[in-house]
Amino acid sequence: MTQSSVSLVSDAVAQSMGASSAIRKMFEEGARLRAQFGAEAVCDFSLGNPLLEPPEVFHQAVADLMAHPQPGMHRYPPNAGLPETRAYIAQKLSSDSGLAFTADQVLMTVGAGGGLNVVFKALLNPGDEVLALTPYFVEYDFYVGNHGGRLVRVPTGEGFLPDIEALERALTPRTRALIVNTPNNPTGVVYGADTLKSLGAWLGRAEAKTGRPLLLISDEPYRKLLFDGVESPSVFPAHPHTVVVTSHSKDLGLAGERIGYAAVSPRMADGAGFFNAMVLANRILGFVNAPVLMQRVLPRLGEATVDMGRYQRLRDMLYEPLSQMGYQMVKPQGAFYVFPRTPGGDDARFIEAARAEKLLVVPGGGFGCPGYFRAAFCVEEQVIPRALPRFEKLIQTFGRG
Ligand SMILES: Cc1ncc(COP(=O)(O)O)c(C=O)c1O
Repeated sequence: MTQSSVSLVSDAVAQSMGASSAIRKMFEEGARLRAQFGAEAVCDFSLGNPLLEPPEVFHQAVADLMAHPQPGMHRYPPNAGLPETRAYIAQKLSSDSGLAFTADQVLMTVGAGGGLNVVFKALLNPGDEVLALTPYFVEYDFYVGNHGGRLVRVPTGEGFLPDIEALERALTPRTRALIVNTPNNPTGVVYGADTLKSLGAWLGRAEAKTGRPLLLISDEPYRKLLFDGVESPSVFPAHPHTVVVTSHSKDLGLAGERIGYAAVSPRMADGAGFFNAMVLANRILGFVNAPVLMQRVLPRLGEATVDMGRYQRLRDMLYEPLSQMGYQMVKPQGAFYVFPRTPGGDDARFIEAARAEKLLVVPGGGFGCPGYFRAAFCVEEQVIPRALPRFEKLIQTFGRG
């Protein structure tokens, strides 16, 4: 009997488990090192688990809802979400984008991860292609593959910004969408208005060429995590066939509560048809609806967020010394990652040497971009001064090249 004939695990999932083993190993390694040497000894920059607690108003809103239970408040809401929460978000989207949104363009989702799966389920036929700009969030391969699609990696240009010629080369009759992520995991790059405009112009030309609508999917869970007063403009004006997918995992520190939404542009041709497909996808993927207590909480929070100033301080505590040491990287304008070139260029050797120093970072290959590594700075402040001498030792060993 072959291995696959005795295992209950599907070939596809077995293959995915193998492919994601580098990050899983890192996770297990962190736990092992902490158990052996104590948590203090380990500097773990491998995980993007939001550090900061939700704002106080969140606790008050939950306490108030729990103190005044209403009949039916924990029953199934409509699959798309509570009408009042969707209307509240539509109004925010309207003032952010300058377009007129209604509740019927907003679907409440199980985080951004759930929302992306809903969009791909609604969009893809087997073999359809989704363009992703490298480096990109590692889960996109799975999310696209879950629905029979194929993720096509497109290299970026200077400063990890989109390279229009590379996009043009990647375009085929099977292309259905381009996914962008700004502020970006893992680079911290934020797309400005000019970048979005040129992406929109290219998508328009590509639609004319292929004779089909192309969907711009903007994955923006870090949209409010911005530094130095940088702005992250709305993508909606750039292209009519746009869907924004986001969550409050990072800006409200609610990653475990799994609350987000997907919003369809009011300018999308047959937007209502695509929206209804997403509502059905939300149901038949088994999400059914986004967590309803969180849907009740959101309209009570106004503009509250986690304390972004703390993420900026952590960015400065890590970025400034690393660049003085000679690490080469783009200064992150948002999110909570740095993505330096790997000193010496050999990711596996560098990561192993870092691990020997009890310093955990993730190789760029996992993001479709070998020759770099990612360090997530959503860590307790005291971890960074402990880590800096280790980074220094590594660059001394591997050189600045
Ligand atoms: C770029 C990006 N997209 C999507 C997600 C998924 O976030 P969630 O499902 O918690 O909203 C993450 C999480 O780290 C991310 O970094």
